[in-house]
Amino acid sequence: MLHAALQARENAYVPYSGFAVGAALRTADGHIVTGANIENASFGLTNCAERSAVFSLMSARNLPNVAITGVAVVADSPDPVAPCGACRQVLAEFCSPNTPVLLANLHNDIKKTTVGELLPGAFTPEQMAYAKTDSER
Ligand code: THU
Repeated sequence: MLHAALQARENAYVPYSGFAVGAALRTADGHIVTGANIENASFGLTNCAERSAVFSLMSARNLPNVAITGVAVVADSPDPVAPCGACRQVLAEFCSPNTPVLLANLHNDIKKTTVGELLPGAFTPEQMAYAKTDSER
């Protein structure tokens, strides 16, 4: 997983920050899908490595065939890289809270955590249980 994330990191497009990140997802059927961060001259349009990987997976395969059973992220950071809040929320959408996550840097520091630990209290579809349906609106 970390090896795949490292390889994906090579494809990062980071002319503005110079901070390359790679991510890898393992699916229940044993495939590995990767992503890298892709920046933009309009900085806010940047896509992080984790979301690149999730969107790549979701674009290629449809639910429920894409159960994510593991996540790995790597960057050249002093400590194992910390996914941003947006990526934590996107991972929470498609992973279960106990999905394992490996966070790493280039010095072989590795932190093992889970999607639930990264984002306790994630916003989930269940919280929209009382939302009005089309016919009620
Ligand atoms: N970035 C990621 O790709 N993933 C993270 O977990 C943190 C931040 C990217 C976004 C941007 O291209 C660069 O790192 C600096 O913020």
